[in-house]
Amino acid sequence: MELVATPQHPLFAARISGIDIRCPVSPAQCREIVRLMDRYAVCAIGHDGPPTNEEQIAFSVLLGPMDRGRSPKIEGTGIRIPHNEIVDQSNLDQDGVIYEEGDRRLLFKRANRLWHTDMSFRQVRATYSLLSAHVVPSAGGNTEFVDMRAVYDALPESTRSRLDGLVAEHSYWYSRSLGGGPAPTDAERASRPPARHALVHVCPGSGRKSLYIASHISGIVGWREDEACALIDELMAFATQPRFIYSHDWRVGDVVIWDNLATIHRATPFDDTRYRRDMRRTTCRERLVHS
Ligand SMILES: [Fe+2]
Repeated sequence: MELVATPQHPLFAARISGIDIRCPVSPAQCREIVRLMDRYAVCAIGHDGPPTNEEQIAFSVLLGPMDRGRSPKIEGTGIRIPHNEIVDQSNLDQDGVIYEEGDRRLLFKRANRLWHTDMSFRQVRATYSLLSAHVVPSAGGNTEFVDMRAVYDALPESTRSRLDGLVAEHSYWYSRSLGGGPAPTDAERASRPPARHALVHVCPGSGRKSLYIASHISGIVGWREDEACALIDELMAFATQPRFIYSHDWRVGDVVIWDNLATIHRATPFDDTRYRRDMRRTTCRERLVHS
C-alpha cells in the first residue's frame, strides 16, 4: 500500500496514511517515511489503537540508532514502563495513579510546556522522537510544533549573519528551573551534564539550514549571560509566531514522529491532576550511544 501524506500546515507537518506501524514495515516503506520526514519534519500516523511498547520499539529501531538508556529517575520514584527504550511522558505514577499536585515528577514534566527539542542537552543529539497516544484528556494537551528550517529561511539576513559560528550550551536542569521545577539534587544534576551545539546547522536529510534552539539553552559560548539570554529570547519570539505553529490534537492511537534537528515543540496545558494522559516516547539518536 502506498503512503499518502496530507499536509496539516502551509509550511510543514503531514498526516500519513497507508501504513500501520504495529505491523512489520518494509524497507521501502521505511525509506518513504524518511523521505516524508525530510519534507514535512512532523508526520502523524493514525491507528485504531496504540501500538504495544514492543511494537513501538520494533518500528523505531528501523529509523535510526535508538536511545536505550533509562532516563535517570527522579529520586524516590518507581517505574511504570519496564522498557529502557521508552520514556514515560504520562502524568501517572508506577501504579497508574495520577500524580498529586506538588509531586516533583509532575513539576519537572511541566517544563515540557516550554519550547524545546528533545535531548539537546546531550552531546549526541536526538534525531527522531516518536510519541504514541494511549490515553488523552478530553480537553487540552495538544503538542505544538515549529519547523526551524522555515524559521531560519524567514529570518532577516542581518540576524542570520549574527548567528554564524555561535555555539550554545544546553542544560536539562536549566529548563527544569525555568519551568518552575524544584532544584535538582547533586545526583540528579550529575546525571545530565550540559552539552554544546551550533546555533545553526544543516539538516542531513533535507540539506536545509535550521536554527537549533531550545529552552534548554543556558548560555552562548564566549558571550555574557544577559546578552546570550537576549539573543535566545529574540530568536524564540520570532520562531514561535502563530504563523509558524502546527498544533497537534491527539487521538488515541496516533503515533507522531518529529525531527528534533529540524523542529521545536512544546506540550500545552490540560488539567493534569484530574485527567489521565498516557503518552510514550521512543527516541532515535545521531549515533549509537552505550549508556
Ligand atoms: Fe519533548
